[in-house]
Amino acid sequence: TAARLDIRPVAGRIGAEVHGVRLSGDLQPAVLQTIRQALGRHKVLFFRGQTHLNEAGQEAFGRLFGSLVPHPTVPSLAGTANILDVDGSRGERASSWHTDVTFVPGYPAISILRSVTAPERGGDTLWANTATAYAELSPALRDLADRLWALHSNVYDYVGDRQSASEQGLHRYQTVFTSTRYETEHPLVHVHAETGERSLILGHFVQRIVGLPSTDSRLLLELFQNHVTRPENVVRWRWAAGDVAVWDNRATQHRAVDDYDEQPRIVRRVTVAGEPPVAVDG
Ligand code: SIN
Repeated sequence: TAARLDIRPVAGRIGAEVHGVRLSGDLQPAVLQTIRQALGRHKVLFFRGQTHLNEAGQEAFGRLFGSLVPHPTVPSLAGTANILDVDGSRGERASSWHTDVTFVPGYPAISILRSVTAPERGGDTLWANTATAYAELSPALRDLADRLWALHSNVYDYVGDRQSASEQGLHRYQTVFTSTRYETEHPLVHVHAETGERSLILGHFVQRIVGLPSTDSRLLLELFQNHVTRPENVVRWRWAAGDVAVWDNRATQHRAVDDYDEQPRIVRRVTVAGEPPVAVDG
């Protein structure tokens, strides 16, 4: 039986607020089932006011979806096995579009982010629906994308198009985030194990499309990525401390907005283990 949760979409193609549940590690199976179904449909779910949730509670809630995996290179928050602490004051601003950890073969299926300290203004996070991005491509481009593979690495263009990358952020990127080099090839398009939908696997860890000259690779990546980040495919969340976002990492990209200057912003993430993506031809 479906549990009675109040699920309100907050944008046209991605994102819904879920009301009527206090998150924990011991939700009723029917409640969990409703959340899972809503996640498949809306791709990112927002739960407001979960201020009771501490690190252990966030981990316990995450385990309802599968086994948790710590970040491959960044040590977990002290005293926890799986919590990634994302602190803007250390230069961790995640302000370019990505899917979490695509540089490993079985990258996370689901990510859960909890706001601990929210800036008074700014520091929102955006999510994009990579399934609608694929679906809206013209048939010729879908056919092309279906056949391409891309190389992903954690050694990505950290500075990219940022206005300013802080010294501290750059140092942390060089010493912690890229302490071990990972490289993985994924299909550009995969078939979601649960929804059966096809979606694009792109984001800032992509280095290049395999087997193409670099200029063609760059232009094609830009073309496909532009479809992902069209405002029509995006939802934007204005954080308050205690908000929790749960997203399907196989069907989304996200980025934070680096407009909060020196205001404190701390979010904490857990990720649920995923399987290597399956290409359209298996
Ligand atoms: C992340 O990339 O998981 C963090 C996003 C954020 O800081 O909003």
